[in-house]
Amino acid sequence: MVKAVVLGAAGGIGQPLALLLKANPLVTELGLFDIVNTPGVAADLSHISTPAKVEGYLPPDDGLKKALTGADIVVIPAGVPRKPGMTRDDLFKINAGIVRDLATGIATTAPKAFVLVISNPVNSTVPIVAEVFKKHGVFDAKRLFGVTTLDVVRASTFVAEVLGDLSAAPSVTVPVVGGHSGVTIIPLLSQSSKPLPSGFASDKLEALTKRVQFGGDEVVKAKDGAGSATLSMAYAGAEFASKVLRALKGEKGIVAPSYVHLSAEKASGDALKKEIGKELEYFSAPIELGPEGVVSIRPLGTLTDYEKGLLSAAIPELETNIEKGVSFIGNSK
Ligand code: NAI
Repeated sequence: MVKAVVLGAAGGIGQPLALLLKANPLVTELGLFDIVNTPGVAADLSHISTPAKVEGYLPPDDGLKKALTGADIVVIPAGVPRKPGMTRDDLFKINAGIVRDLATGIATTAPKAFVLVISNPVNSTVPIVAEVFKKHGVFDAKRLFGVTTLDVVRASTFVAEVLGDLSAAPSVTVPVVGGHSGVTIIPLLSQSSKPLPSGFASDKLEALTKRVQFGGDEVVKAKDGAGSATLSMAYAGAEFASKVLRALKGEKGIVAPSYVHLSAEKASGDALKKEIGKELEYFSAPIELGPEGVVSIRPLGTLTDYEKGLLSAAIPELETNIEKGVSFIGNSK
């Protein structure tokens, strides 16, 4: 029996994500919480002929608590998305408080659940959840994940496009490490499972790297004020959730990049800090998943000089983003 919960379930990401979780045969119960429209979304999804029993909840009558009771996995896409010209950091003002309040609900009702944070800025919202959990004495770094899968999905697709074979996209894997915003997104294209064409020019490599880093902007611009990536994000979120659930069920050897607290597994976390050359608390790297969450944090491996440069550029921004999330809870009542 697995209960999955989506917080922000009526939104642009929340609805298709809830659909994909309803379609996942591992999910037997699906709780949907939002400040609007969840009864309708739940009624609609409940007619789909898959095992999950679906319930929708709103804030009155302890809706958040009811949604979270018995949760094994909680996915959070609640909050406002970007409009053209905005960075993910511009969302902090609104989304930080939303994530803090939802994290408080999880800490008090489902402290053992796996928590998957989609709400931006992920580099700061994951530390916010961790700090709230610490305040409640229930923080377990093995169970908290920032969802960076969309960057991984984009890298696979864009590399397949460069190779002129979109049918290869599902089998292309590129580790994307660092964080989830602009220059903190570091695609390790030299480690692509399907190598780039030999003699791939450095200006093309730079353009491909930038496309992965700023792929979200393509969607924000095309949507022209109507939001950011929702459908591709729902796909990516459901992919990552499915990996967490398969590992929970005992499947071995599942590895996926995610933004985690580097104490999640001490030895490999410390080794990664050494590789990065900095005492960062959080970083996105390929994670081996198991029934209790993080089993180990994989090393970055050999970086090219270009990738080393990307890492150096990412570190100061990551430090600032992490500190912003941590001090938000330090400062909030
Ligand atoms: P949206 O505006 O369509 O949906 C957000 C939903 O959150 C709305 O239904 C809203 O009612 C709900 N909400 C607001 N406050 C809430 C609260 N206190 N409790 C529960 N629900 C609440 O936005 P969209 O497009 O679904 O994006 C959601 C978030 O995901 C944004 O922060 C966006 O930046 C982020 N995002 C993250 C990505 C990633 O790769 N991690 C990719 C794309 C978006």
